[in-house]
Amino acid sequence: MTEIPLKTPTVHSVVYVGEDCLSLRLPMLTEGQKNFVLTDTNVYALHKAFFDKYFKNDELFVLPAGEENKNFQSLYEILSAMTSAGLLRNSRLFAVGGGVIGDIGGLSASLYMRGISCVQIPTTLLAQVDSSVGGKTAVDLGGVKNIVGAFYQPCEVLVDPSFLKTLPVREIKCGMGEIVKYALLNGKIFDELERNTDKLADLSFLQTLIVSCIQHKANVVQADEKETGERKSLNVGHTTGHAIELAYNLSHGESVLYGAYLETQTAIELGVCDKDYGVRLLRILKTAITVAPYEKQDFSTIANYLIKAKADKKNTQKDKIVMAVAKRKNEWTALELPFEKYAEYIQNATKKL
Ligand code: NAD
Ligand code: GLY
Repeated sequence: MTEIPLKTPTVHSVVYVGEDCLSLRLPMLTEGQKNFVLTDTNVYALHKAFFDKYFKNDELFVLPAGEENKNFQSLYEILSAMTSAGLLRNSRLFAVGGGVIGDIGGLSASLYMRGISCVQIPTTLLAQVDSSVGGKTAVDLGGVKNIVGAFYQPCEVLVDPSFLKTLPVREIKCGMGEIVKYALLNGKIFDELERNTDKLADLSFLQTLIVSCIQHKANVVQADEKETGERKSLNVGHTTGHAIELAYNLSHGESVLYGAYLETQTAIELGVCDKDYGVRLLRILKTAITVAPYEKQDFSTIANYLIKAKADKKNTQKDKIVMAVAKRKNEWTALELPFEKYAEYIQNATKKL
């Protein structure tokens, strides 16, 4: 088991990674009080034996799977169930699932009795390398993703890669997209991916990068928990990626891959990203995009959808778009462009795909 400490002004927490982390940590975390376990229908159906083994005396809430359930109604139902279960201040909430369960579970824990302990147990690759770590919690509202939420650090994150054995290939590709995101920020991960671009669909290879991704994220979150500076780097590819995710039938990770490709291409054209390094990044991104399941996308009308980038939380001025882009190995920068120019560069970049 690998231990990655994560210290912020509010919490000293630890991320444990390894197939033994559940058996080593869960008995002591569940002992002595009634806890609340949140999961979704898919995870519960596939991993019932896990819930029966560790949570037989606890209150279980199984949310229907899917992003469409990361909303206020579900939050209300979870908080109602927590209240009916008579949880106490020393009760813990265990969020067992992908990013949807982690986000709404973390927010529920932050609100109940003004905050009870939350343990994140991520079961998708995306959640293991990214969303379970760092304390961003949220629900969607009015068609806007993650618009209502809180920074609320889990007390522990337990990352057991054996959950990933049941993950559909589309979800593996989705998590791979977030791993490739780290290659734009971290030279060690960049080198690993460049050396192994033929293994981007290989779960056993991707699993070897889980600890490096978490360690990178933990360092960033420790330096800037509330995203006033350095943490904005974790949004590389996301400005355009979110717009693509809303407009095309693509997963979050795939959309981030397209976003990272188009934004890197733009940064190279504008001389913001070192050309040699940028071209090597584009090569990794292009291979990642075409990993199965892959369908060629028609981006000829993308400019109509890029308007959605105006709602990005990184923007500070009306009609200006801020993107986090790679500058050179181990270095990123914030690139701000007037909306019209941004849309023109991104549209042109799609022609290179
Ligand atoms: P998800 O939670 O919807 O999971 C994807 C699918 O995989 C679901 O159908 C789920 O039921 C299923 N699943 C989960 N574990 C499984 C397993 N072990 N075997 C088989 N199926 C399994 O989505 P996600 O991709 O994990 O996360 C996306 C969410 O995370 C979005 O809501 C996004 O906004 C959020 N997110 C949050 C952060 C953060 O820092 N908080 C970062 C990135 C993304
Ligand atoms: N996933 C981006 C962040 O946690 O900041």
